[in-house]
Amino acid sequence: MNFHIMTLFPEMVEQGLTTSILGRAVENNLITIDTVNIRDYTDDLKHRKVDDYTYGGGAGMLMQAQPIYDCWKAIESKIQNKNADGVSHKTRVIYVTPQGSVFQQNMAQEFAKEEDLIFLCGHYEGIDERVLETIVTDYVSIGDYILTGGELPAMVMIDAIARLVPGVLNNDVSAETESFHDNLLEYPQYSRPEVWMERKVPQILLSGDHAKVDQWRLEQSIERTRQRRPDLYEKWLAEHPPKLDKRKPVL
Ligand code: ADE
Repeated sequence: MNFHIMTLFPEMVEQGLTTSILGRAVENNLITIDTVNIRDYTDDLKHRKVDDYTYGGGAGMLMQAQPIYDCWKAIESKIQNKNADGVSHKTRVIYVTPQGSVFQQNMAQEFAKEEDLIFLCGHYEGIDERVLETIVTDYVSIGDYILTGGELPAMVMIDAIARLVPGVLNNDVSAETESFHDNLLEYPQYSRPEVWMERKVPQILLSGDHAKVDQWRLEQSIERTRQRRPDLYEKWLAEHPPKLDKRKPVL
């Protein structure tokens, strides 16, 4: 899977995404991280300017349409040339913005099906609306708070998407049992030693009875979700309504 990131700070994104697990995924050619500097596409050869004042007044500068459009065009034609199968698939362009839909695990799963994804990172007071209307397919936020730029949100999303690409995690099972699968948080886990600071590992985990362990873990997940994320618990309950107890007569 190929991530193309349109940014004014390519080195920030590169450094953040080429260490640890994603770094290994890049080395193993499972993913590519293609950072593209929007400033390289400015028409203003003298000052290399990419921003200007907003029409109608107001504080702050706005990123201009031209450098972003030309930067996107260059990425898009690179992708089309690579996929020279005659079929033109328009690559999704994700604009990371606090005005977007809030990023969730199911969105990560949907985006992970794409072969290429383009991220647009904004700065200053935002981006000229006309270029957004022209190239953006998805407006996505990482939460209801304002950051100084789009690079960190793009990195958050790329990390969440890339780890779903087959082979990126050593262990594919863990992607299924972890938090948010089926709207439940993950159960508590323990490793050696069996007793630490007088606190024991729950006895059932040492029993070797896999059915009982699975049942215990499910119960822990449900209870943890109820306590910590009542919003998720409600969703889970709606999909798993309590079964009627057949022994009791319905009055
Ligand atoms: N840019 C600034 N803040 C952001 C956020 N919360 N999500 C996505 N992009 C952003």
